Amino acid sequence: MTTYAYETVKIDIEDGIAWAMLNRPEKRNAMSPQLHDEMDDALAKLEYDPQAKVIVVCGAGGNFSAGQDLKKFFRDLDSDPAERKRSRMVANRWRWERLFNYEKPTIAMVEGYCVGGAFMQLCGCDFAFAAHEATFSLSEINWGILPASLVAKVVADMVLPRHALYYACLGDAFDGKEAERIGLITRSVPKDELRAAVVELAVKLMGKSPNALRGTKQAMRHVRGMPDPQAYDYLAEKMKASRVGDKQDSYNSGLKQFLDEKSYKPAHGAFRLKQLADE
Ligand code: COA
Repeated sequence: MTTYAYETVKIDIEDGIAWAMLNRPEKRNAMSPQLHDEMDDALAKLEYDPQAKVIVVCGAGGNFSAGQDLKKFFRDLDSDPAERKRSRMVANRWRWERLFNYEKPTIAMVEGYCVGGAFMQLCGCDFAFAAHEATFSLSEINWGILPASLVAKVVADMVLPRHALYYACLGDAFDGKEAERIGLITRSVPKDELRAAVVELAVKLMGKSPNALRGTKQAMRHVRGMPDPQAYDYLAEKMKASRVGDKQDSYNSGLKQFLDEKSYKPAHGAFRLKQLADE
């Protein structure tokens, strides 16, 4: 059994759902170099932990994250460029590279503040659910910098250009409903329904073929930047790759249950998964 022992991150795994919690509530979960190291380690382990089937990135104490720690990540590292670079690379790795290519579905669950650098993991996750009452802010402009790392790019890719420019240049705070309207998040729900809505989504995801889901989410993210001829080729190869080592034998199981057994309708739900010995 994998152990997760950290100071600034808390991992709880329950019924297949891994709650990966930024855990500096007294600092509104601002991200320090230590937190980046710990989240990077936790996500690497969770990716191959059979107990964890869906990962929910969230924050302790009622906030998602107040972004980079302005003291520990910015001011304290101004005089240490080597550590600044190391920590920036770790921060970018877990918030973007790991999450963007993750083997398992990921959900950002946002309540309270989601500010600045926290937009990286918000957009890095495959799905994002927020409370109507959540507060989003691209605050960088308000303290005299621009949304760096990859924040400007991930936001520009996620929402329509007018909205991206407006919120990046003004730094105005907005709520969950507005985040849904501009396409930044998947869904906004009342605060007291947030956890249940996230669990409901996670359970639905766990009912899909893991191989087909992994291939689909990775493909949906990667094809955006591809010209058509490259996308045809990539998707054909991705399709083949998703069948390699598929314990569910998804393609054949799906066809058999529909065509021979007539036990389900693909347009209305997933085929029945096998119960595997290692689960
Ligand atoms: N970096 C470092 N410390 C932070 C922080 C950050 N990003 N965000 C909050 N904190 C600290 C505060 O300094 C304070 O520390 P203290 O108790 O030692 O004084 C503590 O967390 C609580 O913050 P506080 O401002 O008192 O809470 P609040 O609920 O009134 O306001 C915010 C919360 C998020 C609106 C406000 O803290 C804020 O604007 N933070 C900066 C967010 C930001 O611009 N992040 C972008 C970084 S890229």
